[in-house]
Amino acid sequence: MATPAFPPFRILLSRDQILRRTNELARTITEAVHGEPLCLVVVIEGARTFARQLQKLLPGNLPLHEVRASSYGSGTVSSGDVKLTVGLDVPCKDRHVLLLEDIVDTGRTIAALRTHFAAKGARSCRVATLLSKPSRRVVQVPLDYIGFEIPDEFVLGYGMDLDGRYRDIPDVVIYEKAVEQAFQQQVAAR
Ligand code: PRP
Repeated sequence: MATPAFPPFRILLSRDQILRRTNELARTITEAVHGEPLCLVVVIEGARTFARQLQKLLPGNLPLHEVRASSYGSGTVSSGDVKLTVGLDVPCKDRHVLLLEDIVDTGRTIAALRTHFAAKGARSCRVATLLSKPSRRVVQVPLDYIGFEIPDEFVLGYGMDLDGRYRDIPDVVIYEKAVEQAFQQQVAAR
């Protein structure tokens, strides 16, 4: 039997659930903006999968601009330090920015990005996030469109990684070291 590509982490949200919810979000956003063109900004890397899907569903063939804001460093605990390293030149002046995130955890990244786009002259800055972990919030930031509120688990897949691994898992899964280690041992024993 072929070795599965990924450890059998527990699925928190299936790809189907995510796609259905993304459709609903796209409809809500479309109704809310009343035809005003949005400046779509994806917070790379983790939000790419969600953002591309949403981009396809929103009218107007909007380009997807990219910003990179790193806060986790390596491992599973946020360092608290947010650095914007890509996308400082997104053409946002006088435009309605819609930030697309995979997950809002402490809220520091979104808070830093909202401050950045306000300073750059955006008319408004709204946020659509696939996931929100309200129990982890340190900075209270308004989130306009939320896919799912989730418990305080370290999640992976659907674009989200652990040190560059597991972004290709199609569902959102819960990381567990013991599951990963058992899988690695199985693979090594083949
Ligand atoms: C993740 C996620 C958010 C941020 C949320 O990015 O994509 O941007 O953390 O955390 P916060 O609410 O505590 O600020 P990460 O730094 O892991 O980078 P990546 O998307 O490139 O993996």
